[in-house]
Amino acid sequence: MSTACTILGIESSCDETAAAIVSSDRTVHANIIASSAELHARYGGVVPEIAARQHLDVIRPVIEQALSEAGCSFDDIDGIAATGGPGLIGGVLVGTMSAKAIAAARELPYFAVNHLEGHALTARLTDGLAFPYLLLLVSGGHTQLLCVRGPGLYARYGTTMDDAAGEAFDKSASVLGLGYPGGPAIEKAAIGGQPNAIQLPRPRRNAADCHFSFSGLKTAVATRWQAANDAHKEGRQDAPSVADFAASLQQAIADSLVARTKRALHRFYDETGSRQLVVAGGVAANQTVRHALQELATAEGFTLSTPPLSLCTDNGAMIAWVGCEYFQLNRTSPLTFAPRPRWPLDDEAPPPPGRGIRS
Ligand code: KG4
Ligand code: ZN
Repeated sequence: MSTACTILGIESSCDETAAAIVSSDRTVHANIIASSAELHARYGGVVPEIAARQHLDVIRPVIEQALSEAGCSFDDIDGIAATGGPGLIGGVLVGTMSAKAIAAARELPYFAVNHLEGHALTARLTDGLAFPYLLLLVSGGHTQLLCVRGPGLYARYGTTMDDAAGEAFDKSASVLGLGYPGGPAIEKAAIGGQPNAIQLPRPRRNAADCHFSFSGLKTAVATRWQAANDAHKEGRQDAPSVADFAASLQQAIADSLVARTKRALHRFYDETGSRQLVVAGGVAANQTVRHALQELATAEGFTLSTPPLSLCTDNGAMIAWVGCEYFQLNRTSPLTFAPRPRWPLDDEAPPPPGRGIRS
């Protein structure tokens, strides 16, 4: 029988400073998020130094607010978990040092959490899902298919050979003048657009492996957008609109995710006999992507777990939850833990063909 616990989780790997208090019975007592996205908007993307300073300014009030909203004090907390990587090192340092300081002062166990594992285990917090399951992880910097067998037990089936799906959203949004953050802006702009108005590529659609490629999509959007602008300038009324571009891009990304995931579903079922699919990470907030994956899961006889929108993008609850899982396995981290800007979930996975650095 595992021991019940309540964990404070801290997330600070990108532009959200977040703290949450979560119990091992899957209760989220508080989940506070302060975003610095507005400060970065004028630069078209997250500026690491600005993000780090902002984390430093708000981390303490964010933690205090989480405790007060949960109606508890450090006396009620059994351990402190914080994102230890991967991510922007300045922010990860702020969260890690705060967590270590609290753990040392209160003599509590400390857990250095892999941010990707936070996304990976969210379905266990929200749906109580049992292992194993196939995970499509689609965040800002990662697009991966993983067989998840337990905390710390990941086998990577596929990853991106170039850009992540989130980057395809963000970079295309910038080309289309929709600003930052790009994913939600594209989704909003796509309303009323025609998903087949612009012919965009579906890279690697029929490839025999489970790896992704999205950089050609971004280039295709840029060249077609230029052509459409020229047509608008010439006064052509039939030139496609921003809405058409946004809808077509969204559809192309959803199609690519579905094609690769379909291949992975077959491999996963052959290896485990299980039919559970989970999608997690910021791009999982996109309704077109969610619907396309639901259709795939239904057609293949799989169940699909999608976190609620607020737990798709970065948050402290997912970090606290990993802390709960590790507390119960007695897997604490030493206070000497050094933040890891790169921290693959599957250290053993070979690099995808065509490149060797993104994991
Ligand atoms: O998981 P996440 O919040 O942060 C990282 O760990 O990277 O993911 C951020 C990514 C960004 O690329 C953002 O544009 C994308 O998720 N995103 C979306 C949506 N909301 C966030 N992409 C498409 N549609 C959305 N609604
Ligand atoms: Zn994330």
